[in-house]
Amino acid sequence: MSLRTHTCGELRKNNVGETIALCGWVGSRRDHGGLVFIDLRDRYGVTQVVFNPKVHPQAYEVSKDLRPEFVISIKGQVSERPSGTTNSKLPTGEIEVSAEVLEILNPSQTPPFEIQDEVEVSEDIRLKYRYLDLRRPFMQRNLLNRYRISKIARDYLDKQNFLEVETPMLTKSTPEGARDYLVPSRIFPGKFFALPQSPQLFKQLLMVSGYDRYYQLTRCFRDEDLRADRQPEHTQIDIEMSFIDEEDVFKLIEGLLSEVFKGVLNLELKMPLPRLTYEEATSRFGSDKPDLRYDFKLVDLTNWAKTVEFKIFRETAEKGGKVKAINAKKGASFSLKDIEDLTEFVKSLGAKGLAWMKYEESGEWKSPIVKFFLTTNLAELKNQMKAEPEDLILFVADKKEVVHSTLGPLRLKVVEKLGIKPKTDFALLWVVDFPLLEYSEEEKKFVAVHHPFTSPKKEDIALLDKEPLKARAKAYDLVINGTEAGGGSIRIHSQDLQKRMFNLLGINDQDAQVKFGFLLEAFKHGAPPHGGIALGLDRLTMLLLGLKSIRDTIAFPKTQSSSCLMTESPSEVSERQLKELHLNKGRE
Ligand code: AMO
Ligand code: AMP
Repeated sequence: MSLRTHTCGELRKNNVGETIALCGWVGSRRDHGGLVFIDLRDRYGVTQVVFNPKVHPQAYEVSKDLRPEFVISIKGQVSERPSGTTNSKLPTGEIEVSAEVLEILNPSQTPPFEIQDEVEVSEDIRLKYRYLDLRRPFMQRNLLNRYRISKIARDYLDKQNFLEVETPMLTKSTPEGARDYLVPSRIFPGKFFALPQSPQLFKQLLMVSGYDRYYQLTRCFRDEDLRADRQPEHTQIDIEMSFIDEEDVFKLIEGLLSEVFKGVLNLELKMPLPRLTYEEATSRFGSDKPDLRYDFKLVDLTNWAKTVEFKIFRETAEKGGKVKAINAKKGASFSLKDIEDLTEFVKSLGAKGLAWMKYEESGEWKSPIVKFFLTTNLAELKNQMKAEPEDLILFVADKKEVVHSTLGPLRLKVVEKLGIKPKTDFALLWVVDFPLLEYSEEEKKFVAVHHPFTSPKKEDIALLDKEPLKARAKAYDLVINGTEAGGGSIRIHSQDLQKRMFNLLGINDQDAQVKFGFLLEAFKHGAPPHGGIALGLDRLTMLLLGLKSIRDTIAFPKTQSSSCLMTESPSEVSERQLKELHLNKGRE
């Protein structure tokens, strides 16, 4: 008989009477009046094994030594569990195996935490002992579903004539705009490879080569400050196509998402996905990745503000700024302390303050600033904000950008604080027509919002000379539940336009040649019109499974501070290695 004939998730009532062999890890061990029960676990499930001293004394004797996480093999007969002892929560809950032979394949130290779903253990410990954490059903489900998503994506793209092509990991800086991870060259002193932030330039080159439908599930490296949805290395489902426009990308990705949601969650998504322009998204939701699971739109009160006494509002409105507000429905329950906290929150994001008014049951407004408003102002406010008793109106007056970047996050904070239930589990949308450029205060120049190869909208090319900040790009993001799950653009394929773009970005001919010379050269040899997108596989998995952290979708992730607690990397290297790489330790 093989070391194992079945997995621990496989046996059912119809196996009763069969002699089988199982291998796995000992979960719990229970002694019940002479009988010993263990839960035997592998990645497929759990099977109950019984050791009976009267029937198989030898196996029973060995079972006394069993401790959690021992690796064992057993042979025995499948039997039906006595009535009243079945476990309807377990797929194998109707049977058990009476062990005839037990072999301890390897003992185990006491694990630092119990291997089960509900563990009270810090993430640092989980990450240090990641190989044990990965034994937990929770992590196994996550990795399994992540695999499903990538398999569905591969199958879908394959059916659509896409070809997976690998691109280099040791390469040159790409234009995604984060900091690069650099790899020193041993052979060329003082020179470095960069790990790719994405395969952006290579996939465009593949278009020049005529591989008109490319995809790759590939690792991308970005040295940036991490958040709950960011990792220094992440995986993209990276796509590029020739002879297409934005609509073709939307259609392709909507088809892909339909299959993924169906395959993983058995959920039918309503297609086509809604779209908001960047302008609409930011002005209504204060975000270019709006979470449409919740209402609470930003209401523009700028015209109204021009008619009121309250100086902060009137002056901001008259000077070309914006006054906007959200109606926190039933938020009148917030205490002054709550409102103070919200005020500190928006201030930390750059607002000067947070004005508020409660609309009371009596029809009166309550607020320290209510005295600055006429009855007619208040009636108009009630009307515009659709205020009902027990509502709380929260206002920010400032430059448009500040109003959006503070009220947007405040909207979600209030939703959380009020415990508002989402309208749906998943809200997906496209955000389109991003601006082509933005002004970087830090660098004192224009920078590309997506990247320098993104094409402007045809009708906005004329704006490039006089009002470049008004030019919109053929760029789009896929947003799921308020997170950017993917992004891409139609690229520039004309040399002239690319040159104009570089000029705007302050990249002179020589710089362009040094940085992207190979791409510009390639574009002289028959570059087809092309464009593409990349979906973040880790984020997609996190969103589909409703996980809080991207780390729960990755087998061996980095911590929030970009280190690996298990391998203890990054780590020191030897003097010899440094010397070979022409690096001096501690040199500034
Ligand atoms: P972009 O930079 O928008 O586009 O990245 C595409 C998607 O990758 C995911 N992502 C990340 N996930 C986890 N951790 C990170 N640090 C991280 N950074 C990005 C996001 C994002 O939407 N080359 C272009 C695509 C193109 O134009 O075709 C690109 O990389 O889900
Ligand atoms: P002050 O006159 O500074 O005491 O402000 C009165 C109220 O208006 C306080 O609740 C402030 O938080 C709020 N406030 C101040 N500046 C702004 C602003 N730019 N937008 C919205 N509210 C503000």
